[in-house]
Amino acid sequence: MNILITGGAGFIGSHVVRLFVNKYPSYRIVNLDKLTYAGNLANLRDIEDRPNYSFVRADIADIDAVRRVMADHDIDAIIHLAAESHVDRSIKDPFTFARTNVMGTLSLLQAARERWEASPTGYEGKLFYHISTDEVYGALPLTHPEGTPSPFTTAASSATHHQAYGTEFFTETTRYTPHSPYSASKASSDHFVRAYHDTYGLPVIVTNCSNNYGPYQFPEKLIPLFINNIRHGRPLPVYGRGDNVRDWLYVEDHARAIDLIFHRGTPAETYNIGGFNEWKNIDLIRVIIRTVDRLLGNPEGHSDRLITYVTDRKGHDMRYAIDSRKLQSELGWEPSLQFEEGIEKTVRWYLDNPEWLDSVTSGDYLRYYDEMYTRR
Ligand code: NAD
Ligand code: DAU
Repeated sequence: MNILITGGAGFIGSHVVRLFVNKYPSYRIVNLDKLTYAGNLANLRDIEDRPNYSFVRADIADIDAVRRVMADHDIDAIIHLAAESHVDRSIKDPFTFARTNVMGTLSLLQAARERWEASPTGYEGKLFYHISTDEVYGALPLTHPEGTPSPFTTAASSATHHQAYGTEFFTETTRYTPHSPYSASKASSDHFVRAYHDTYGLPVIVTNCSNNYGPYQFPEKLIPLFINNIRHGRPLPVYGRGDNVRDWLYVEDHARAIDLIFHRGTPAETYNIGGFNEWKNIDLIRVIIRTVDRLLGNPEGHSDRLITYVTDRKGHDMRYAIDSRKLQSELGWEPSLQFEEGIEKTVRWYLDNPEWLDSVTSGDYLRYYDEMYTRR
């Protein structure tokens, strides 16, 4: 099987590429990535020389480039992760999000449809797997601001803090109500994916996952940004009162879910992915501070002084909480890492890889790759 993975040089994409290249030596994995500020080939250094891996620098919104890659590599399946992914950037520059997330997804869908419809076996054995987010469902109310014992659990739920902050959860049938330009662009791309199934019969799967954390996440997102700022003694900007709630899943558990759904999921279905692991931002921030201080040998509470409350994000969604029981019961997915282990592993990884953090924050790697690959 020849699989095109888009956005494979980014955070989640690099974990998916690594998993597939290592686990399936008989598949040919083609990583298509534009290498924006968020894409970094150093994320894949350990597998870049494997015979079943290749990289193409291209823009998903460039349909001719996508058509060429589909033909050159005789692509059977697409796992589509390439996107502009940061909410704050979408508030400043919504057009880039519409271009990549909406037009880019549409280009991929059209190129896949043209190629597969023209093949002698048609859509047989083909799949367009679209990676989406829980943010398309909008925001849940914070009906239990102090938290209440969560009614659901997985192996990823925290051992010491297993709270829910409301009675509602996002299910696969929750109505789409995106609020940010980012989530509106992801919702639009999800609609196009389903429209290509309903109109042309393209075999598609959509999954909607909660917040991921782990190694190789660009340090503009909460967890790596705060680890890096603590490392440098810089302020930790907490939006609003810090009482927004997110549901955190270790990135390798997301990649394992993608592997399972890619192989065993039912075309035209949607699966929610999440570990029932809700945290209020300020509580999570205190866990990060405690862990970083401990691993750096600082006295307990040393970095608390860095907490700085700042103006809230515009349109800041209050609470996300994924109900992943369909995936658990239908496909037997279980995350492998409990939150305490995941956060320890994550903090250790960033502290052990200061050169990665320094290079992605300095922009050195972008200059290097711009010299290596000329932009189309
Ligand atoms: P990321 O920003 O770390 O990586 C995105 C990758 O896409 C980068 O390598 C970038 O170079 C590439 N890219 C961007 N624009 C491109 C274009 N026009 N053409 C080709 N490549 C392009 O993102 P991430 O956090 O790894 O997210 C990956 C996917 O998973 C996204 O679709 C995102 O919406 C979704 N998702 C993310 C999370 C999360 O918590 N990070 C949760 C659920 C779903
Ligand atoms: O829910 C899935 C989504 O999770 C993905 O689709 C997105 O691609 C991903 O970026 C993430 O979105 P969030 O907006 O939830 O993640 P972020 O790390 O930006 O912020 C997490 C929470 O922390 C959110 O409530 C905003 C808050 N925050 C964030 C930053 C960067 C702060 O308080 N201070 C900060 O500096």
